[in-house]
Amino acid sequence: MDTLHITDVSPRDGLQNQSAMVSTQDKLGLVERLVAAGVRSIEATSFVSPRAVPQMADAGELLPRLAARWPQLRASALVPNLKGLERAQAAGAREIAVVLSATETMNRKNINMGLSEALDISEQTLERARSLGLRTRAYVAVAFECPFEGPTPQAELLRLAGRMHEAGADEIVIADTTGAAAPAQVRDRLAALRDVLPLHQLALHLHDTRGLGLANAWVGLEAGVRRFDASVGGLGGCPFAPGAAGNLATEDLVLMAERSGLATGVALDGLLEAIGFAEAVLGRPLGGRSSAWLRRARGGRTAPVSA
Ligand code: COA
Ligand code: ZN
Repeated sequence: MDTLHITDVSPRDGLQNQSAMVSTQDKLGLVERLVAAGVRSIEATSFVSPRAVPQMADAGELLPRLAARWPQLRASALVPNLKGLERAQAAGAREIAVVLSATETMNRKNINMGLSEALDISEQTLERARSLGLRTRAYVAVAFECPFEGPTPQAELLRLAGRMHEAGADEIVIADTTGAAAPAQVRDRLAALRDVLPLHQLALHLHDTRGLGLANAWVGLEAGVRRFDASVGGLGGCPFAPGAAGNLATEDLVLMAERSGLATGVALDGLLEAIGFAEAVLGRPLGGRSSAWLRRARGGRTAPVSA
């Protein structure tokens, strides 16, 4: 069966923006439930300035505990610069992600560098990570629209994605940071991106701010993309990109995939457990578009929910 590879980014993209501090123990609790649901790849944390993102200050403690408990789990860590890579390496990271935004202003707001410096630093960080034998992901953020500069020129997206590919990134993550993309645009950009990098190395990172997350994911699937970032319960959003709401919910993506004959290896029942846990930790209701229905369906029978 055709398989979809999901990286659940809730421990990083999902939690970085929460106002209530989440303990390391609770992060481990969330990952435990994701792993139990069948998730094999997560973005666990980020090695960024704790002043910029206090929620990720425990990265150095969290990562080794994850690796010790789930040695088979792919646990990536976002690193904005060489210092972040150094910290990630000291914590035993085996996979990192660099973050390059496609506009000048977004780079400044996010990592306090202009675009050309951010590109330079991303390339240096990828090169160093590769020399250390780490698996690498490279985000190209605001790939469709920037909250500060408006629509992102397609040529700029292609240039930067191409540079990340040339720099040897194993996976290039095309990120709709604010959930601004629409299906026709996703289709057109994916068609153009095929010319600068192989599709099997491309991942789509979608947000559901305007309710178009799944429609955009479907266009990606139809175009042959098989790697997706998603966040359980739709948790997520970038603190430095105004208007960015939750990520595409993992449960919505898994439900759509299942109903469309694609395997994910992830169980919806297990995802509901993870959502319930995150709700208890954060003290508010969560869930993507399908979670209310999934919960009803699950309440009505004892067998695991499957679509
Ligand atoms: N991790 C921890 N501390 C870091 C760091 C890292 N990766 N990179 C730099 N620092 C520290 C420096 O050591 C310095 O500390 P000091 O004041 O105690 O000496 C301080 O941060 C300032 O260093 P500087 O290089 O001037 O950084 P900056 O203030 O220009 O900030 C970033 C740059 C990248 C560190 C910061 O903007 C950041 O962490 N951004 C992350 C944003 C993010 O997570 N966005 C969401 C995900 S896309
Ligand atoms: Zn995101």
